[in-house]
Amino acid sequence: MATIFISHSQHDVAVVTAITKGMEEAGYHTWYSERDLQSGASRTIQISEAIAQCEATVLVVSSRSVTSHQVTKEAVDASEKGKPLLPVLLDITPAQLQELQLGWWHAVSGTAIVGIGAGGIEDATVQIVELLKRHGLHPEMKTMASPILKAVASTPDKPLPKSLADKILASRPSMEGERKQVTVLFADVTGFTSMAEKLDPEDTHNLISQALTFITEEVHRYEGTIAQFLGDGVMALFGAPIAHEDAPQRALHASMGIRKHLSEYARSLRPQGIEFNMRIGLNTGLVVVGRIGDDLTMEHTAMGDTVNLASRMQRSAQPGTIRVSENTYRLTEGYFDFKPLGPLRLKGRSSPVKAYQLGGFGRAKTRFGVSVVRGLTPFVGRKKELDHLLDCFELVKKGQGQVVGIVGEAGVGKSRLFRQMVEMLPREDYLYMEGECLHYGETVAYLPILGILRSYFGIEESDVAPVAKRYLRDRIARLDQKLESVLPPLCELLSLEVEDPQYTSLPPQQKREKTFEAIRSLLLRESRNRPLIIAIEDLQWIDKTSEEFLGQLMGRLPVAPIMLVLLYRPQYSNPWTSKTCYTQIRVDEMSPETSAEMVHAILRDGTAAPELRQLILSRGAGNPLFIEEFTRALLEKGYIRRSNGQYVLAVKPDEIQVPETVQGIIGARIDNLKGTLSAPDDYGHVGRTGRGSQRAPGVGAHLREEPLPGDGIHFQARPDTRRRLQQPSGSE
Ligand SMILES: Nc1ncnc2c1ncn2[C@@H]1O[C@H](COP(=O)(O)OP(=O)(O)OP(=O)(O)O)[C@@H](O)[C@H]1O
Ligand SMILES: [Mg+2]
Repeated sequence: MATIFISHSQHDVAVVTAITKGMEEAGYHTWYSERDLQSGASRTIQISEAIAQCEATVLVVSSRSVTSHQVTKEAVDASEKGKPLLPVLLDITPAQLQELQLGWWHAVSGTAIVGIGAGGIEDATVQIVELLKRHGLHPEMKTMASPILKAVASTPDKPLPKSLADKILASRPSMEGERKQVTVLFADVTGFTSMAEKLDPEDTHNLISQALTFITEEVHRYEGTIAQFLGDGVMALFGAPIAHEDAPQRALHASMGIRKHLSEYARSLRPQGIEFNMRIGLNTGLVVVGRIGDDLTMEHTAMGDTVNLASRMQRSAQPGTIRVSENTYRLTEGYFDFKPLGPLRLKGRSSPVKAYQLGGFGRAKTRFGVSVVRGLTPFVGRKKELDHLLDCFELVKKGQGQVVGIVGEAGVGKSRLFRQMVEMLPREDYLYMEGECLHYGETVAYLPILGILRSYFGIEESDVAPVAKRYLRDRIARLDQKLESVLPPLCELLSLEVEDPQYTSLPPQQKREKTFEAIRSLLLRESRNRPLIIAIEDLQWIDKTSEEFLGQLMGRLPVAPIMLVLLYRPQYSNPWTSKTCYTQIRVDEMSPETSAEMVHAILRDGTAAPELRQLILSRGAGNPLFIEEFTRALLEKGYIRRSNGQYVLAVKPDEIQVPETVQGIIGARIDNLKGTLSAPDDYGHVGRTGRGSQRAPGVGAHLREEPLPGDGIHFQARPDTRRRLQQPSGSE
């Protein structure tokens, strides 16, 4: 049956009810807001979707609706989507319509107009039905509209994983009313219309539901939330209600997961002659988080069109592709590969917008990796810490293994310090191995160990299994023929075929012991050739299995030339600090002098004028990441200019915003802190500590420190101040 959208003012709902009753009796489906809007989803988006899905729009014209913005929007939307518009005039004549609403008049001119005459509504309904038929819309037509509208109603029941629900509930008090940087993802499945001709509505509905399940699972896997179900697609958010510093990356990982699952799904349906495709669009920007209900739905106000642009990206994407806005691109470049699409002209935007098509994974896995690809700032300061690391390595060379913890806040320079130390050593003195823990990888067993093994054996993600296996065998054979027994567990770990039936039949606990033993033997044996430096990055996100393995490995270190370096943020409670082979380096914020040196190093071709330097130092708060990003933002956005070999401010300090690249870190950090506080008035200053202060490492240690006037970023956790974060004023 054809489905018809009824556009009207809510004051005319009685007439609409009568008209739709007549139309339904004639065999049409109708859609109107008072009856068909689903709760919990955005009204605007549902209406727009309904217009898109329905075959025609009946425009109920009355003295109330001609002045309604909503009805005007619906009429424009329907005509832009090329849907026939059928005007039904209630208390208005055609001449009045032409005079009052020229826009509608143009849209409907040339169309027969239905008036409510002496025959009343019944007669008018008969005329509407006649007109619909003239447009080729017959009641017996099979369409997608009803199953799609059903899917809206049925999918939100999908339960949210409990861990996610708990996190949302925990963040609820701190989120409401906040401005948050979020990444908005729109995903839909397209091409159902042709499919619908071959399938009955019930089947179609089931297929859509299955596709939506895949989408939902991927969104939840990366701790995004579904904001709305849109019939044949979803709108999801990353970054709120749960704050993540890497929300844009998560959104892209989810997008790639969705693309993969849906293409597999499409492939599985093809033999039955069923075709469909998907499109995904993303944008990153600010939203103000509204009320988070007991059902965990979140109201939000998009600022600067954050949501609209994401939706536009999706609608303009080619089937099967993922399209991102410039904002999302800038925040994820390096982690992922993109193809620039050239400026796009989008409806409602005066100037063209840049867009990119997501390819696959990029070269970098961590933020530091992205920095390396981009080019590092020349190294400054940290002499004491470097000396400490070099001393540890001297002990390692003598066969006294060491575990070194490098602890500090996000962006303070842990990874850089360590890299600097490694680069100071002669290449032939060591073999370097590195594994990364990822924010969303806590549930992936052995994640950092897998990284180490893959790089040791030279296995790339893209290598097919036989090639990977050859690398593995060859390297072990070269290392020590006696190590054959490590092959089965290592093969299994690297998802390669295991040829040893005895191993495959072992119970899980024994397999695990064998796996630990294999990795340990490999490392210890290799360390006999030359000292090993093994780094584990971002230990705060380590999975339990890897943690347990490291604990066991440490038992063997005192007598092996291995330097195990653990880099982590203070939120991680390190279980090994009491081990005799353990030492710890705390990386604090940089002193103003070192920070100034860094600013100088970033602005390679000029010095910063005193006022500018002061601004960067105070906003950067001794954190090298913030200093780098802030200075880069100043340069990129044209906030500073060169004059006689000096950089000077080109705008007022209060016009300068916190760069998007660190907003995620700040947001996540503030939320983390709030979790540790009892009362809002306890909130202190975050982002800087007293210079050279001897605080114990740990986030809580910052909280009661008094801010120094004119110094530090002052990321206060009070809502009013937090709002200022986005527009820090020069008076701070
Ligand atoms: N001493 C330094 N000299 C010059 N640049 C530095 C220095 N320390 C850090 N940086 C730069 O600051 C940025 C952030 O540093 P880094 O990635 O090492 O921080 P981190 O403490 O490892 O952060 P995270 O906890 O997020 O991993 C990098 O681009 C790095 O190159
Ligand atoms: Mg790091």
